[in-house]
Amino acid sequence: MKPSENGTDILLSDYKPPAYLVNEVHLRFELDRQNTIVHAKLHIERAAQTSWETPLFLDGDDLTLVSVLINGQPVLRDQMTVSETGLILRQLPKEPTFTIETVVRINPEKNTQLMGLYATRNNFCTQCEAEGFRRITFFPDRPDVLAVFTVRLEGKFEETPLLLSNGNKIDQGDLGDGKHFAVWHDPFPKPAYLFAVFAGDLGVITDSFTTMSGRDVRLEIYVEHGKEERALYAMDALKRSMRWDEERFGLEYDLDIFMIVAVSDFNMGAMENKGLNIFNDKYVLADPHTATDADYANIESIIAHEYFHNWTGNRITCRDWFQLCLKEGLTVYRDHEFSSDMRSRAVKRIADVRALRAHQFPEDAGPLAHPVRPQKYKEINNFYTATVYEKGAELVRMLETILGSEGFRRGIDLYFQRHDGDAATIEQFIACFAEATDTDLSHFAKWYDYSGTPNVSVKTAYDAAKKSFSVIMQQTLRSGVPQPRDIALHIPVSFALLNDGGKPMVWDSVDGSKVSNGVLHLTESQQTIRFDGVQSEPRLSVFRGFSAPITQIPEQAHDDALFAARHDDDPFNRWNAINGLFMRTMKDAIADIDRNAATPPVDPQFLAILESVARDNELDFAYRALCLTPPTVNEIARDLSTGINPSAIHAARENILDTVSVICGETFETLFDGARIDGSFEPTAAQAGARSFVGTLLSYLVRTTPGIDLATTFIGAADNMTDKLTALSILAHQFPGHSNTIKALADFREAYASEPMVLDKWLSVQATVPSEETLTDVKELVDTPIFSWKNPNRARALLGAFATGNPVGFNRPDGEAYAFFCDSILRLDAINPQVSARLMTAMRSWKDLEPVRQAAAETNLRKLSERSELSRDLRDILSRTLGATNAH
Ligand code: TRP
Ligand code: ZN
Repeated sequence: MKPSENGTDILLSDYKPPAYLVNEVHLRFELDRQNTIVHAKLHIERAAQTSWETPLFLDGDDLTLVSVLINGQPVLRDQMTVSETGLILRQLPKEPTFTIETVVRINPEKNTQLMGLYATRNNFCTQCEAEGFRRITFFPDRPDVLAVFTVRLEGKFEETPLLLSNGNKIDQGDLGDGKHFAVWHDPFPKPAYLFAVFAGDLGVITDSFTTMSGRDVRLEIYVEHGKEERALYAMDALKRSMRWDEERFGLEYDLDIFMIVAVSDFNMGAMENKGLNIFNDKYVLADPHTATDADYANIESIIAHEYFHNWTGNRITCRDWFQLCLKEGLTVYRDHEFSSDMRSRAVKRIADVRALRAHQFPEDAGPLAHPVRPQKYKEINNFYTATVYEKGAELVRMLETILGSEGFRRGIDLYFQRHDGDAATIEQFIACFAEATDTDLSHFAKWYDYSGTPNVSVKTAYDAAKKSFSVIMQQTLRSGVPQPRDIALHIPVSFALLNDGGKPMVWDSVDGSKVSNGVLHLTESQQTIRFDGVQSEPRLSVFRGFSAPITQIPEQAHDDALFAARHDDDPFNRWNAINGLFMRTMKDAIADIDRNAATPPVDPQFLAILESVARDNELDFAYRALCLTPPTVNEIARDLSTGINPSAIHAARENILDTVSVICGETFETLFDGARIDGSFEPTAAQAGARSFVGTLLSYLVRTTPGIDLATTFIGAADNMTDKLTALSILAHQFPGHSNTIKALADFREAYASEPMVLDKWLSVQATVPSEETLTDVKELVDTPIFSWKNPNRARALLGAFATGNPVGFNRPDGEAYAFFCDSILRLDAINPQVSARLMTAMRSWKDLEPVRQAAAETNLRKLSERSELSRDLRDILSRTLGATNAH
């Protein structure tokens, strides 16, 4: 693969193994905020297939070259070319191995894109995935070049008492002049994207873990001085992750030390560098006064995710970036499983599916759609997507559903055994499952190569005379970008035939699909599955546990949805039916507003279901809260799919919720008054569930008078961030401009003046007030000292929340919010292209808007795309969003 130049496609079909390998690399850093010197010595090996005349290309980006030596000798002029993208060396030694030594200068303080080595507060840290290592030194920066790293760090003791890198510390000492050094050696060969350095001054908490084979591993979490206590939850999550991976997959940690460092300026959530994970501090630090239950849950799952990468990503890495889902989809699957085991499986599944539908489905249905394994890209940073991660995880889950948990385990065991130390591909991954279970998975593997969400329509027919029950299924693949449409995928359908009480029924024989473990297999465009010997007409429960990432249109008939909402014994499907009833009620209300009709009454049967679920003590609180949570405006918009007018959706939704509150008010009030959380705050799933239940009830109760008092009292009494934030959002969103709201916002800001992470919540709450006036507030907030263009968390909390979490305010019909947003993106792009490009994806669904908004969006998108100074990242997103380039 050639280095990515502006505008050129990198193609999977162009993949060639590396011409030169790097067996060993020795790095020496002379750290300085503006002028860091990096010395690199690479032990190169010419690959067997490479002729000795072949030039050697080393990637480099934004490096100032000081010197180059080959086998210790200075290079001749015509032996070397330095370009924008790297260094080409010719006339290399004829021996199969030789060394290259380079010295370069870099400026960490000027590195605002936060890729490579950068300054964050008073510290230095690195981010190398995907292509950041080339911003540190000249190197074949591709994941199939694996080297053993030895790293010597030198810095001023005052500034950087801590000098950390991957692996084990093998030496350290004083250099005089206030300087010191440390040497780290990582015995595991790794690609450059897993390299990391942290140098600076932080506090630490330490612990230890004894692995299943009895080795002691030292655990260290580094955080800002004074915040050590806030890392205890992360440490606990780490130990639980380590134990879980041993118990569930037999996977043991492999170094003597595991370190986590929390930094405040970070492009993503966290990074799995070998032995030295670097985290966005928002996913490490938590205490009851600053973190919500959702923050705790995120910390638990991200700590686990990065830890799990040690096997799925590090020990087995990716051959090239097209295979990103090999490590990400698999690792997300693993962290989902971990959280399910730690908390409630049903609740976790529902939350994950909601997230998939909210983020991945629109991506797949819009202009940025791409296969889980793309065939081409212009900028790999733009492919760290919901499709690669979340849909990628669903593909692994489907493998498990198809093979059964034992077969799945045999396949994955073979994968770890066979590919340990490799840079692998999806084909190799799938082959392990196919071989271990003797299953042909070639049809299933198509999931990796096509974009789009399959839609499955389901019809049933019961023949009472023959006692036979037929299920007719049809699938079509709908993608936001052109591709063949007649693709039939292998869709595993978990199902049950239910009797009137919701209990599973039996049958004598089945025709039209293999059926085992409650799964049937849809493999054709249209398929009829017939069950014989079914004694009475059953209700069909399909896609139980959301067994495949599909949509189902036409949706369940109303009567079937009511049945499932009452009786389905699959907790996911029961929730899904309730959610579907909510959705239908909202959509009917919108249709009626369009026809200027009065708000339709809400089906009393549905309201009775809501009340009975709310009261059902057999169900845990978190599950009840999910059932009572109405779909968001964005979710309704996605379901409507075209002609979107977010203000109209919002208005209809408010109407319905008011009706629900009036009719269910008494029940909700009784439950609210009776709800008690015993004991002091604990971030447990049980307590978190109870809090979310109470918060959900509160959001209904405030709709009937005197809501403002109720919310004000609630925030006054709150002794934890979850309750505070629930009440603050209710005040800001339901009672904007009320004096209590103004006071609550001001008090909150003052109370957390020195807590940037909490102020991010404060920014988001205000940015998401569902009103066309919110733009004015957002513009003011941008100018407060709390905001910073350089900090990705601030940008996401304010601009990201506004663009993705405020459909009403962002999609003002006059297009003013688009104009402001596009200006902001331009400004951010000059600082950090990864952040600007990602935020820009907020406008990917512009074609689904009603004509006035759509035109305003297009005008602003085109205006931005005409700027000449855009980064490659942003240009790629914009041109695909506008549909200017051919599709993936
Ligand atoms: N590999 C990281 C993860 O998912 C993702 C990541 C962290 C990343 N930082 C990044 C990806 C910067 C691209 C650029 O765990
Ligand atoms: Zn990951």
